[in-house]
Amino acid sequence: MDNFYTGNKTNIIDLLDNPLFELVRHDITFPLYIEVDEIYNLACPASPIHYQFDPVQTTKTSVHGAINVLGLAKRLKIKIFQASTSEVYGDPKVHPQTEDYWGNVNPIGVRSCYDEGKRCAETLFFDYRRQHDLPIWESCFKLYCASAAKQADYNLW
Ligand SMILES: NC(=O)c1ccc[n+]([C@@H]2O[C@H](COP(=O)([O-])OP(=O)(O)OC[C@H]3O[C@@H](n4cnc5c(N)ncnc54)[C@H](O)[C@@H]3O)[C@@H](O)[C@H]2O)c1
Repeated sequence: MDNFYTGNKTNIIDLLDNPLFELVRHDITFPLYIEVDEIYNLACPASPIHYQFDPVQTTKTSVHGAINVLGLAKRLKIKIFQASTSEVYGDPKVHPQTEDYWGNVNPIGVRSCYDEGKRCAETLFFDYRRQHDLPIWESCFKLYCASAAKQADYNLW
């Protein structure tokens, strides 16, 4: 499922003819009613150029998106994965960051749509686990990419 904000069908050209593969064009900020076995939520522009282009949509993608996929996972009683980010630590005062470090985040800066959106998504994921016993797992990572152009996009990470 993708709204192709930064994604592109050509990235998955090899899959399109596979009868076991189904592509749904959809914006995650709107509820989605489908039947699936597991959910992997990676939807969110990740480079500063892209997430700062429409910051309100970026926050909505993380927050409304999380609410929508968590609601779906709860209804279907399935596992759900969230792609989080080291940016949830903001401008950290602890290096390297440990699981019990909460971060040092600016809530009103130009990067906040991404950092705070992802933080709120984490809050929602953990509350769904505590409140609804939903099996969740998260990953917090950084990208290492070979392409110089792509690296330039991510330089401000
Ligand atoms: N790239 C990294 O280094 C990195 C590091 C940490 C976390 N992440 C997270 O991993 C995920 C994927 O990152 P990426 O580098 O592949 O980013 P990307 O921008 O290349 O891919 C994001 C995908 O989400 C889709 N998308 C965006 N908004 C959407 C919406 N409202 N509804 C449906 N689809 C939407 C885009 O079209 C695109 O296919 C993101 O959630 C990002 O925050 C990435």
